[in-house]
Amino acid sequence: MKIVLTGGAGYIGSACLRWLLDHGHDPIAFDDLSEGNPPSVPADRLVVGDILDTEAMAEALRRHRAEAVMHFAALAIVPDSVKDPDNYYRVNVLGTKSVLDAMRRANVPRIVFSSTCATYGTRAEMPLTEQSPQAPEHPYGTTKLAAERMIQDYASAYGLGYAILRYFNAAGADPDGSHGEDRRHETHLIPLTLQVAAGRRPRLLIYGDDWPTRDGTCVRDYIHTADLADAHQKAVEAIGPGDGRVYVLGSGHGATVLEVVTACEEVVGRPIPVERTGRRPGDPPTLIADPSKIASELGWSPRYTDIRAIVETAWRWLSTHPEGYGPKPGRH
Ligand SMILES: NC(=O)c1ccc[n+]([C@@H]2O[C@H](COP(=O)([O-])OP(=O)(O)OC[C@H]3O[C@@H](n4cnc5c(N)ncnc54)[C@H](O)[C@@H]3O)[C@@H](O)[C@H]2O)c1
Repeated sequence: MKIVLTGGAGYIGSACLRWLLDHGHDPIAFDDLSEGNPPSVPADRLVVGDILDTEAMAEALRRHRAEAVMHFAALAIVPDSVKDPDNYYRVNVLGTKSVLDAMRRANVPRIVFSSTCATYGTRAEMPLTEQSPQAPEHPYGTTKLAAERMIQDYASAYGLGYAILRYFNAAGADPDGSHGEDRRHETHLIPLTLQVAAGRRPRLLIYGDDWPTRDGTCVRDYIHTADLADAHQKAVEAIGPGDGRVYVLGSGHGATVLEVVTACEEVVGRPIPVERTGRRPGDPPTLIADPSKIASELGWSPRYTDIRAIVETAWRWLSTHPEGYGPKPGRH
């Protein structure tokens, strides 16, 4: 299938693009390179553009004769969204509207959308299912929920097929160590911990060790990018005309911060300095998915259910690419 991936040069988008190429599809990335890395995708599969430019997006869809869009492009750092909601509503909400309008202009019939467990808020019961109440507690979560609703409204009015995938914590790198996570400002636990192991940061800060969890640190559901990519392939292949699907997408297993640190120490083979500090406001103690709906409807199951196996792939990338993808001249 001919597929355009907005944000396709980003961490998850590029992993999906490479996966789709390996699995018989014809994907291209549409990315403004504000965070994405050109070397993460083949050069002839990257169109540089802003999703807010509806006509440029429509033109890219027409030129590629796109049959589907996977919409990854977004701003996705929770504290930044609290400081600068203007930018988050612009890119995540108006940007999604622009993508949908471009799809209408170019007659593209289906979309797979990157949503998030951050649309649930902190009070829902675990594990989270598609039915759990959505009550986001920061602008990032609110903008992603608004985008979900917009996609559903456009779908019922204009006959679009859609799959909304609410991911948990994306993690890991390509198993051969060739591609992985490389951001301007890293905020994710596994790369931060491995950067400490590599001597690029003095210590890992642990926010709170008095949460109601098995060792007092926060529990998260880490899902490998290859498992995310597999789910995107299955979802896009399953969407029929006018078909709407929503799935939570996590491994179904939780690891505490201390368990992640231990896994990193085992993989790297040395102790990793940590500093325990106070809780961060707004952090839920536990986030775990119940992925049984996507398992039963699409036959998806995660290959990476062991945190150590996920960390091994991330370390292979980070230890062989200390500068990541290299200089990032196009960023603003
Ligand atoms: N990383 C996670 O753990 C996680 C969890 C849940 C949901 N998500 C969602 O998955 C998606 C991808 O996340 P990621 O971790 O790969 O982030 P990322 O920042 O690596 O990728 C986002 C990409 O979008 C591009 N982009 C941003 N604004 C754009 C614009 N206006 N026009 C065109 N391109 C633009 C960036 O350059 C970047 O390449 C996001 O929608 C995010 O909300 C991520």
